[in-house]
Amino acid sequence: MKHFHAISRVPGDPILGLIEAFRADSNPAKLDLGVGVYKDPQGHTPILRAVKLAEQRLVDSETTKSYIGGHGDALFAARLAELVLGADSPLLREQRTGATQTPGGTGALRLTADFIAHCLPGRGIWLSDPTWPIHETIFAEAGLKVGHYPYVGSDNRLNVEAMLAALGQLPLGDVVLLHACCHNPTGFDLSQDDWRRVLEVVRARELLPLIDFAYQGFGDGLEEDAWAVRLFAQELPELLITSSCSKNFGLYRERTGALIVCCENAEKLLDVRSQLASIARNLWSTPPAHGAAVVAQILDDHALKTLWADEVEAMRRRITELRMGLVEALQPYGLAERFAHIGIQRGMFSYTGLTPLQVQRLRDEYSVYMVGSGRANVAGIDASRLDDLARAIAQVCA
Ligand code: LMR
Repeated sequence: MKHFHAISRVPGDPILGLIEAFRADSNPAKLDLGVGVYKDPQGHTPILRAVKLAEQRLVDSETTKSYIGGHGDALFAARLAELVLGADSPLLREQRTGATQTPGGTGALRLTADFIAHCLPGRGIWLSDPTWPIHETIFAEAGLKVGHYPYVGSDNRLNVEAMLAALGQLPLGDVVLLHACCHNPTGFDLSQDDWRRVLEVVRARELLPLIDFAYQGFGDGLEEDAWAVRLFAQELPELLITSSCSKNFGLYRERTGALIVCCENAEKLLDVRSQLASIARNLWSTPPAHGAAVVAQILDDHALKTLWADEVEAMRRRITELRMGLVEALQPYGLAERFAHIGIQRGMFSYTGLTPLQVQRLRDEYSVYMVGSGRANVAGIDASRLDDLARAIAQVCA
């Protein structure tokens, strides 16, 4: 008997698949604007200096590789919750919030999906249209009913009115996923006024917000990017936050993240956390230790934290400069206005507005790789190649 006989092939991941395609391209002039990783001016994804120093300390001081508990590294959890919610958050004082360490932000989303499926049966989840493609599959895989609210339309503009109108029609009590900052894939973020209006609708419809916070520090700054998360945590009794250390600590492959839960009181938090530990046990048992230990070392040490915050700020500024640089480089082709949105979007990604066909041509004719939706990882642009990139874009837009 051939057990695997009926198994068919599925298409590769639309984002991770680009890593292999890019590697296989022998064109020396190739440009990788696919997967969301930051690259320095040398085209390298660096290990942050703060991370190297923390790793050295760990090598010198670590005494065991025994398991960490179901919620992960306690120091990491405490410091990360402070970074996200603010060290002076009343939720921390009142012990109404706790972080469960997960394998990356993706792990936090998967844990959330299973938590909703197990503990809040029947609740649908609503995603922005468009959103990160893995949001779609992660919640569907957990058996949740997935719906969409409008966010960026075919005119490649943020449509807050349509978003609010749709949220106002959601079934009472459903879960709504919001991107804290640096919306993936579009780069279009809500203003503080927009967030206040979203909060009102969330209250009116008694929705449970799940805020995905994967890019803290890459939008307007470490504190500024946390503004909406902190507003919701302050104003609502219950909130789920998925936090990732992949980008802002450059710990991509170490799979470091957390699900932060905010509850109405300390007792309820214990109930919820017991469920999370039980679900996590069946998913990955206990989380990987190294990345979280590194983050804990950094956030728990004033000098290391300052160094790290400076490094995040340098990455953020470079991304902003690349955005402006690309718009400028498009100027000679009469395309600066058409692509002006690249300058106002935030974070690593830009929804360029290029069509799938144009994206395909960029790849086939110029070895420029971006996601088929037209999402470009601005943080992957080589500044010395801005003119080449602008010329290629102009050619496919002609
Ligand atoms: C991305 O969207 O490119 C990143 O979040 C990496 C990933 O896992 O897809």
